[in-house]
Amino acid sequence: MAEPVFAPWTDPEAKPLIQFRNVTKRFGDFTAIDDLTLDIYEREFFALLGPSGCGKTTMMRMLAGFETPTEGHILLNGQQIDTVPPNKRAVNMMFQSYALFPHLTVFDNIAFGLRREGKDKDFIQARVDEMLRLTRLSKFAKRKPHQISGGQRQRVALARSLAKAPKLLLLDEPLGALDKKLREETQFELMDIQEKTGTTFVIVTHDQEEAMTVASRVAVMDEGRIVQVATPDVIYEAPNSVYVADFIGDVNLIRGVAKARTAAPQATPAPKPVPEPATEAAQPALNRDPRPEPNAMGAWLHDNLLKPILGERPEDDAPKALPAPSPEETAKAKPAAAPDIPEGGLSIDWVDGQPALIAANGDAALDGKKVVLALRPEKLSIGKDRPDAPNVLRGKVIDIGYLGNISTYHVELTDGTKVKAQVANTRRISRRNITWEDDVWLGFTATAGIVLEDEA
Ligand SMILES: Nc1ncnc2c1ncn2[C@@H]1O[C@H](COP(=O)(O)OP(=O)(O)OP(=O)(O)O)[C@@H](O)[C@H]1O
Ligand SMILES: [Mg+2]
Repeated sequence: MAEPVFAPWTDPEAKPLIQFRNVTKRFGDFTAIDDLTLDIYEREFFALLGPSGCGKTTMMRMLAGFETPTEGHILLNGQQIDTVPPNKRAVNMMFQSYALFPHLTVFDNIAFGLRREGKDKDFIQARVDEMLRLTRLSKFAKRKPHQISGGQRQRVALARSLAKAPKLLLLDEPLGALDKKLREETQFELMDIQEKTGTTFVIVTHDQEEAMTVASRVAVMDEGRIVQVATPDVIYEAPNSVYVADFIGDVNLIRGVAKARTAAPQATPAPKPVPEPATEAAQPALNRDPRPEPNAMGAWLHDNLLKPILGERPEDDAPKALPAPSPEETAKAKPAAAPDIPEGGLSIDWVDGQPALIAANGDAALDGKKVVLALRPEKLSIGKDRPDAPNVLRGKVIDIGYLGNISTYHVELTDGTKVKAQVANTRRISRRNITWEDDVWLGFTATAGIVLEDEA
């Protein structure tokens, strides 16, 4: 059976472990934290994300008791802790720039806080051994900090802050000093430790991927305020503002004016007339007909596979197209311009001469407003043939970012707008057919983007 999902924030009965209630922190006349209200629940792995100087460390320092709020209150387990000194709180903080005692061994560094609390020798021995095991440092217990690696030192600092079994552990950029690979490994270790100890973690990180990996919820901050608090997938897939969409991950922001789409049939473009049987002279109407361009794949198959077996294609005068469909066939066929476009939502006029973009998930309340369509690059398809998608853009590849597992194509649209499309590299480079300067089609569904009010 599936385990129940951990989501205390959705349970109205659940009591938060930490509550910020309208907390403001000023330094002189500078407001570092601005009327912030936030609940964090027991056993959460809560991540604070935001640009440098937005107030993350200040929030942590108030939680740990090194700063007091100028206004408002902080509660731990329902108790106001504004005036409780740091050493009397069941909170431990691993600082942005932690320091180990250079003259003490790894063991003694971890034992330091426990000794100061006057715990007995056996208790300390057992507890430190447990921490060493948890952080996979048992082999290094007798070494001094300068005799271990940077990543190991960071784990010692972590073990030291966990040793006193705090109910709440605050981690300010705990993995900042590690290279990417070690950082990723340590992230999983942290999650494991957090699960095993049942401690509540609040972590500050500059690394969005890290926040997305470890966190139960992410708070995105800007200038002392929280802009959005949500699970990583919601932050990524349903950002509540252009600020969050732009801050987290890579995103295309297409600006335009929204128009409510009335329910079908009015909203569905009128069915296109069935095309006349093609003649030699007929050109594919690229901008009007949403079907694929004449069949390049067929020609390729013929030239490379069939021709050696079957010989040249007979050149005759018979029409090269299929006969026109009968009235019954026409009646059965779906209108060409409606590849499963859901009803409702918004259409977005974004550039003169280009068809409006369709966002069936757009909020009709944005009708008439300036909006931004936020589109993640991986939601766009890219190809040389026109895709059968509700939204289709035409452009030229101006740059390709190759990241091994994925490639990002930078495409300049006919009006000059630049759009990124990201594709997983399932084929070897030599087999991929899109390159610099290629004319390409981009396509995306009617629900691929998020329509946000344009704050600019
Ligand atoms: N003691 C202080 N006196 C005056 N201003 C301060 C003090 N501490 C912090 N600030 C200011 O408050 C703002 C928030 O600082 P804070 O350290 O919380 O930022 P941060 O989000 O942790 O940034 P970073 O990501 O760079 O660590 C900054 O503009 C900082 O200059
Ligand atoms: Mg900081």
